[in-house]
Order: sequence, then C-alpha cells, then structure tokens
Amino acid sequence: MTVLLEARAGEIVTLTLNRPDKLNALDAELIGALDSTFERLAGDPSVGIVILTGAGEKAFAAGADISAMSEMTVAQARAMSAKGHAIGARMESAHFPVIGAINGFALGGGCEIALACDFLYASDRAKFGQPEVKLGVIPGFGGTQRLARRVGLGMARELCYSGAVIDAQTALRIGLVNAVVAPADLIAKVTEVAKAIATVGPKAVAACKRVMLEGADLDLKDANALETTTFADLFETAEQREGMAAFLAKRPARFGTH
Ligand code: COA
Repeated sequence: MTVLLEARAGEIVTLTLNRPDKLNALDAELIGALDSTFERLAGDPSVGIVILTGAGEKAFAAGADISAMSEMTVAQARAMSAKGHAIGARMESAHFPVIGAINGFALGGGCEIALACDFLYASDRAKFGQPEVKLGVIPGFGGTQRLARRVGLGMARELCYSGAVIDAQTALRIGLVNAVVAPADLIAKVTEVAKAIATVGPKAVAACKRVMLEGADLDLKDANALETTTFADLFETAEQREGMAAFLAKRPARFGTH
C-alpha cells in the first residue's frame, strides 16, 4: 500500500497520509515518505502549492506510531525526533505554501506536522492535541515550539502540559486553524484557497513565506530590515514588471509557474 498518496492538478499537489486503518499514525515508512516527498517537491519549481490531508473520515494523523515507539531506545527516539524536525524544516523552507486540510484527529506528531503547514483549514470533525504527556513523553516533532508560536505561550502550555484534546471550534477560536467547514466541503474550500494563491506572483509568495518565517526568529528591527531587502530585490524580477504593468493596463497579470 502507498502510505503517502500524491495527486497533481496544475501547480497544486495534494498529499494524503494513507494508513486509515491506523488513523494515519506516522510509522517509519510514512515518516520516510513525507521526508523524501517534501525533499523532491522542494526541488521542483513547477510546484506552486501543496495541500496535506489524511485518508478516511476519522483522522489527519493520530500521532507517531505508539506500537513502534513503545520499543524504542534513547538513540532511536532521538533519530525519530530528528527526522520529524527535518520534515518540518523541509515544509517550512520550501518555496511553496503548504496548506493543511485537517479532516479528523490531528494528535501528537499529527498535530505537529499540521503545525509545520503554513496554515490550516479544518473540518468540523477535527480534533487537535499534544497528548504525549499521557504516554510519559513530550512532543518530539516541534510541538513544544511551533504550537506556542501559533497560538501563544499560555494556551500552548496548557495543551502540552494537560494533553487535552480540543475540537475544531476551539482550534478556530485560539487561532490554530483559519476556518472550520463541513467535512464534505473541506478539500473544495482548501482547493479554492490554493487556486487563489496560484494566480498571484509565485516569487512574491515564496519571498513572503521566507520573510514571515525567518522574521519570526529575529527582533523587529532585523525582521523589518529583512523585509526591506527582500521587497527591494523583487524589483528586478520579471514578475514585478508583469504584475505592475498588468495593473496599469487594467488586464490580468500573466505570471509563470509558481
Ligand atoms: N499509533 C499507533 N496506532 C494507532 C495510533 C497511534 N498513534 N492511533 C490510533 N492507532 C490505531 C489503533 O491502535 C487502532 O488499531 P487496531 O484497529 O489495530 O487496534 C486503530 O488505529 C484505530 O484506532 P482506535 O483507537 O480503535 O480508534 P478510536 O476511534 O477508538 O480512538 C483515538 C481514536 C485517536 C482517540 C485513539 O486512537 C488514540 O488515542 N490514539 C493515540 C493518540 C495519541 O496518543 N497520539 C500521540 C502519539 S505521540
């Protein structure tokens, strides 16, 4: 069975975590497939946007595979965590936005892969949490860091310390997801957003993603300087000339591939 399905429509690639009988739990095979797939897509300039979702009606991913983890040594756990972090880094450093379409449980490593997405839409059946403390461990794929950056330190602490699972409406309220829709509408809604992004300047989107990510780790002065440099550099791109010429000529811009 292919654990990570890939479907392409123009610039939009949809990846589907595909172990539905195990609620798409992230075993070594699925983790490896995510890593190699994001590595390949990041090297392909024709990829404009990636949508990441889960197979079946119950789960995006119910976490790292607990049966595999239960036997791990310290060294194996360290390697697994490093691999999870490498995937998050690949997703964040890619030139394309990754939109998470969270169709069900996003727990533990599933929540952490969701947090490495640029932003999330959820079905009203989605549930989120970092329940690792219930297993005697902590998040290992970036949850202790990215959750706080997404929803604030207080809420992230409560979720990581308690292992509480929250529903989609709560996730919306705390800013973990951008929108909640009916399960049957989720992929269509996310595709609509992806298509809108596909019409704008691809280099501008990639630059925006990079500046917003890198700027978050800088103080405001350095982050604003990074913005200025990147803004200015775009003025020697064909994309800038086309975007502004099209506006002035009152016609749609024709950008290249994302
Ligand atoms: N690792 C390994 N297998 C998992 C899994 C995980 N993280 N999450 C679910 N599964 C498996 C179950 O063992 C079960 O397999 P089986 O049918 O061979 O017994 C199958 O997926 C279906 O899960 P089940 O627990 O029967 O579904 P449910 O609807 O009763 O409960 C959850 C759903 C998500 C509440 C429950 O599966 C759960 O708590 N999973 C673990 C969540 C977690 O702690 N994740 C963090 C890991 S660090």
